[in-house]
Amino acid sequence: MATRTQNRQSNRATSNRTTSSRSDTTRSRSRDNRSAFSWGDGAGPVIAAALGGMAIGLAANYGRKALMQGMEAAVGDWDEILAAEHDVALAIFDKMLATDESQTFKRKMLLMKLTHALDKHAHQEEMVVYPALREAGIRVEADQLETEHGEVKTYLYQLQDIGPDAPNWLEKVREFRALISRHANMEEEEVFPRFKQELSEDQDARITSLVNRDGFWMA
Ligand SMILES: [Fe+2]
Ligand SMILES: [Fe+2]
Repeated sequence: MATRTQNRQSNRATSNRTTSSRSDTTRSRSRDNRSAFSWGDGAGPVIAAALGGMAIGLAANYGRKALMQGMEAAVGDWDEILAAEHDVALAIFDKMLATDESQTFKRKMLLMKLTHALDKHAHQEEMVVYPALREAGIRVEADQLETEHGEVKTYLYQLQDIGPDAPNWLEKVREFRALISRHANMEEEEVFPRFKQELSEDQDARITSLVNRDGFWMA
C-alpha cells in the first residue's frame, strides 16, 4: 500500500509530465507557425519603427544640409560664397592658434571642423570652378590651385599624424594658415575676378547653382 509521501511524489511526477507535454506542444506549435522567411510575431512594429527612425534621420540630415547650404546661398554669387568659406576656415585657424598643449580635445575638435570645412570647399572648387576656369582658358592657374589643394591635404594628414600635443603643432598650424591665406588671396584677388569678368549673367548664375548643389551634398 502506497504511503502519503509516495502518493505525493507520484502525483507530482504525473503533473510534471503533463506540464512538460503541454509546453512541448506549445513549443512545437510555435515552431510550426514560424516559416524560414517569417520575421516572427512583433517583428513588424520593430521593422516599421526602424524604418521610421531611418526616415526621420534622413529627413533631419536633408534639413541640416538644406539649412547649411541655404545660409551660404544667401551670401550671394559663387565667388562670394567661396570667399565667405575662406573666412570661416581662417577663423578656425585662429581658434587653433589660441590653444595650448593641454587643450588636446579642443585641438582635435577644431582640426575635425577644419577638415570638414576645407574638404567641402575644395570639392566645390575642384568639381565646378576649376573645370570652368580651364574651359575659359585659365588652365595654368587652375592647375596651380588644384596642386595647392594637395598640399592642404598633406597638412591635414600631418596634423592628424603628429597629434594635438606635439611640440611643433602650433608651428605646423601657422605654416598651414599662411598657405591657405596665400591661396585664398590668389583666388579672391586674381583668378576669380578675371574669370568673372568673362562670364555672362546666365553663366555666372549657372556656376552659383552648381557650387550650391555640390556644397549641399558635401555639407
Ligand atoms: Fe582653392
Ligand atoms: Fe578657395
